[in-house]
Amino acid sequence: MRLFHFLKFLTINNFSRYCLKIVKVHIIWITIICIIYFNWRFKKLDFMAIPYPPAVIKFNTSAKYLSSNLASSSQLGNNIFEIASLYGLSKHLNRTPLFFIENGYHKKMLDNLRKTMPRLMEKFRILNGSVPRSISETKFQRACCLHKSPWSLEKNRDEYLHLSGKYYQSWKYFPNMRNELIEFLNPTSIQIFGNLPISDDQNHVTCVHSRRGDFVEYLFYASDPKFMKNAVTFLNENEKVGSRNRKIVLFGDDLNFLETYFSDAVLSTDVGKNAEYYISQNPPIDDFLYSKNNCDVVLITAPRSTFGWWIGYFSKGNKVYYLDIKYTGDHIFESGGLIASDFYPSHWTPLKFASANSFTVVRS
Ligand SMILES: *[C@@H]1O[C@H](CO)[C@@H](O)[C@H](O)[C@H]1NC(C)=O
Ligand SMILES: *[C@@H]1O[C@H](CO)[C@@H](O)[C@H](O)[C@H]1NC(C)=O
Repeated sequence: MRLFHFLKFLTINNFSRYCLKIVKVHIIWITIICIIYFNWRFKKLDFMAIPYPPAVIKFNTSAKYLSSNLASSSQLGNNIFEIASLYGLSKHLNRTPLFFIENGYHKKMLDNLRKTMPRLMEKFRILNGSVPRSISETKFQRACCLHKSPWSLEKNRDEYLHLSGKYYQSWKYFPNMRNELIEFLNPTSIQIFGNLPISDDQNHVTCVHSRRGDFVEYLFYASDPKFMKNAVTFLNENEKVGSRNRKIVLFGDDLNFLETYFSDAVLSTDVGKNAEYYISQNPPIDDFLYSKNNCDVVLITAPRSTFGWWIGYFSKGNKVYYLDIKYTGDHIFESGGLIASDFYPSHWTPLKFASANSFTVVRS
């Protein structure tokens, strides 16, 4: 009865009606704001990054293990650096390398590496799950591209040694392991390089790696067409090829860029066409295998590119030229995060422009 009276009172009372109207309008607005907010949150939610449940591990196994945090969402070149370095470190420390599949990105990284370097991944014990809380983290490798002496790790007697670092971009973590790492490249991958020239007693192949794409966005030094062209001129003058034909094969993530500046080049998919310049359209694993079998000389034009680095490292001729990072304004280099002698092997040759007002390319 009371409620009835109250409702009656409400319907009669103009002031109450006015209040109800205001509340209704606000409810609509609040609903709209909530929808926008959850939509935004939902989009930001990265399912790949959701951690897997902790891995089940055994203690007192009489073995010693080594693992690390990983920049698993980075690209293949970065992934190979981390795994090659951890493998090198594990040999040095006499430990078994471990790979924790911590989330979807780790899973993707593992799948890509198994396709590219299956026998390297076989050296790792794979655990499906995050690093359990019972394993504490040991500080190591605070910057991407320099070498830390592992002497501080040699004294560590923990059964599970898990490192806090990422990237491990220094050849010094895997010294004298070039032949072994090359052998780890997937030999069963179908080696069809399309139209690309074969290095033999007829043809000498120079491989030129470029990188634009996200490097432009990250303010990393992206390949400069003037440097690319004039460095090729430098190589033509400085690399003796005898009576062999010179062939130039271009690699890069920006086909439009390559076709604009090398308009005479033919694509690896243009079967039957013969030219001086070629552009690879092959998948990354085939580019590595192509380099292993055919690149007599490699030129790296985006000096921070790890993919370019591996094209050079795996190359047939093991003769690599690169743009000296000193002249690129690279912010990681300028802030001390990259030590050139740790990153670039000492037998590789740095190049630069002759002077501020000359685009001629010379040794740095
Ligand atoms: C690994 O763990 C994830 C997450 O718990 C699960 O979805 C997946 O099926 C597991 N994979 C294997 C091979 O056990
Ligand atoms: C490992 O073995 C030691 C000594 O036998 C023991 O004290 C310790 O509790 C064991 N740890 C685990 C996790 O089982």
